[in-house]
Amino acid sequence: MNPTILVTGGAGYIGAHACVTLIAAGFTPLVLDNLCNSSAESLRRVGRITGVEPRLIVADIRDAQALDALFAAQPVAAVMHFAGLKAVGESTRDPLRYHDNNVAGSIGLLQAMQRAAVRTLIFSSSATVYGEPGFEQFREDMRCDPVNPYGRGKWMIEQMLGDLAASEAGWRIAALRYFNPVGAHASGLIGEDPRGAPDNLMPAITQVAVGRLPKLRVFGGDWPTPDGSGVRDYIHVMDLAEGHVAALRHLLAHDPTLLTLNLGSGHGISVLQMLRAFEQVLGRALPCEIVARRPGDIAAYWADPTLAANVLGWRTQRDLHAMCRDAWRWQQANPRGYASA
Ligand code: NAD
Ligand code: UFG
Repeated sequence: MNPTILVTGGAGYIGAHACVTLIAAGFTPLVLDNLCNSSAESLRRVGRITGVEPRLIVADIRDAQALDALFAAQPVAAVMHFAGLKAVGESTRDPLRYHDNNVAGSIGLLQAMQRAAVRTLIFSSSATVYGEPGFEQFREDMRCDPVNPYGRGKWMIEQMLGDLAASEAGWRIAALRYFNPVGAHASGLIGEDPRGAPDNLMPAITQVAVGRLPKLRVFGGDWPTPDGSGVRDYIHVMDLAEGHVAALRHLLAHDPTLLTLNLGSGHGISVLQMLRAFEQVLGRALPCEIVARRPGDIAAYWADPTLAANVLGWRTQRDLHAMCRDAWRWQQANPRGYASA
């Protein structure tokens, strides 16, 4: 019997890719998602890729009854907790909605896990928990001081996980701090499908390429970086998904523990480098304009991925070309995202 892994938020961008890697690794994903930022079509596509369509329970992580019923209905070996709202700007305008969904939602999930005696968890954290530490390479032992409500929520949840692991024996927890996930499954069947105008760089580029946006706005050309544009650590979403399976295998095979790990490539890429790499894949130049810096952005940061490599034996495999090629394959085949189906 393949162990069942509850995947909250499994219909979303990263969760759907994680379902693919879970199935490939011999696990059975069981998805709980309220579909507030996704569609069930992503899971039908996972079925086309793997031959196994994950079961979807449409429910909210704040619904204690739904969680209890789910845990009572089958043994669950572990939980991958992706469910959450993720728009930084929106979190600044409506912090209570974010803390209710992300922080209170995580508390509800943890309480349900406690009731069901399921104590193995992988949590989607973010490099945003570091804030602006004054260094460019972020290491797990650096002080965290997030600068927006979204990031503070992630940091609150990480601290809560620490309290929980210290209070009760048996918890196996990995808080994974993602850097900038981009790209798509190589089939082009699943990918990132933002609702409304994209906030993030890669969907903005692919939407310009497909004609949904007139031009790419580069937020700032005067950052203290080699080419003046912002620098981030982009990670192919399939590398990220494989990092989750590595963390899951590690947790299931070891004594109870609390791990906090960066998942990134260790390399900084600028906005203009990303644009040029994408244009190479596309075979033509894209319209772009350098505009004012975006409030809240910082110049440059990337991961120190050493700890994840040492603990999990995991490191990224896919390069910038693969990120651009796969993001473009997805967008080209699905110009309106899953609504194109
Ligand atoms: P996404 O919006 O595509 O997926 C999140 C999923 O969670 C969606 O399917 C949504 O419908 C679901 N969801 C949200 N609130 C829910 C609730 N209360 N109950 C049930 N389902 C709920 O986002 P993603 O990019 O796949 O991100 C997954 C996780 O990774 C999030 O927790 C996010 O904060 C974190 N993360 C993402 C990034 C990124 O750049 N994409 C970076 C760092 C961390
Ligand atoms: N950028 C542009 N134009 C755009 C979009 C982005 O120039 O249209 C630039 C940004 O200024 C930044 C870089 O591209 O320099 C990356 O920006 P993103 O919005 O793609 O990503 P961020 O680094 O701002 O943040 C992302 C997620 C956060 C997460 C963080 C983790 O949005 O939720 O990565 O590192 F916390």
